[in-house]
Amino acid sequence: MEKIILDVDPGHDDAIAILLAAKNPNIELVAITVVSGNQTLEKTTKNALDICSAVGINNVPVAAGMSVPMIRKKQVVANNIHGESGLDGPHFGKQTVKLDSRHAVDLIIEILLNSNNDITLVPTGPLSNIAMAMKKEPLIVPKIKQIVLMGGSYQLGNVTPSAEFNIHSDAEAAQVVFSCGRPIVMMGLDLTRQALATIEVVNRIKTLNNTASNLFVDLMEYFRMTQKKVFGFDSPPVHDPTTVAYLIDPTIIQTKPMNVEIETSSELTYGKTVCDYYGNTGKEPNALVATKLDFDKFWNLVYDTLKLY
Ligand code: BDR
Ligand code: CA
Repeated sequence: MEKIILDVDPGHDDAIAILLAAKNPNIELVAITVVSGNQTLEKTTKNALDICSAVGINNVPVAAGMSVPMIRKKQVVANNIHGESGLDGPHFGKQTVKLDSRHAVDLIIEILLNSNNDITLVPTGPLSNIAMAMKKEPLIVPKIKQIVLMGGSYQLGNVTPSAEFNIHSDAEAAQVVFSCGRPIVMMGLDLTRQALATIEVVNRIKTLNNTASNLFVDLMEYFRMTQKKVFGFDSPPVHDPTTVAYLIDPTIIQTKPMNVEIETSSELTYGKTVCDYYGNTGKEPNALVATKLDFDKFWNLVYDTLKLY
């Protein structure tokens, strides 16, 4: 059983990560913390509460955190991919889940300080909440079991030619996290672009016909359209739930140890995860970087978990 804090900016693929984490029997979801990213904090927070309300996740605190990057002045959102709401497509009913009154950064600190070094952090948005928590209370750092995050890539970017959205949104925060000294597993685009929600995958999940599978289908319909328009993909890559899937069954994802550093000073490549794939810097690896996904095992796991709703 993995105890996790899921730090999200929902987001179509964040939503699927929430569905997996809340229901899979191998995961104990301790808290959902929300950060700005795909949209403003106000919108990503509303989306997190809408998702939880829609499928009845009402026993997990949901707390809102950083509304801006740690240092960077410019804030970017991904409305071209996730729409004006950050979660365009599905229609949500009345919100029944209420927001926790604590700030997400304080909630992360509180949970970690009171833990037995057994909490894994699972960030699937910009790393502003996690890095701020580390800066505000450095005593939490040795208490973190590991960090399994979605972000970066060792090849191409998506928001710029070389940078991936989550890291590019707050590269200074990413630098704090990647240099924290705790074990890191990085699900970059190289891996997550293998997690394609093909028509066959969506149709199979559709047959479950429950609240979570219906939400999945609605989310994927919109996501398919924007991923095609922006990147030319026939099927949308469902980035964020690969983190949770790895914790449920690590055999689904192959990784390679690499030294990863974050570019923060270049105009051209700001937010690039510089991954030493061949080990030619001689620097110690600080992350396991995901390389290959077992497609069938991954989607079976999503199917089997959504079936539990
Ligand atoms: C990441 O950016 C967001 O748009 C997605 O939710 C995912 O976390 C992919 O680059
Ligand atoms: Ca995300």
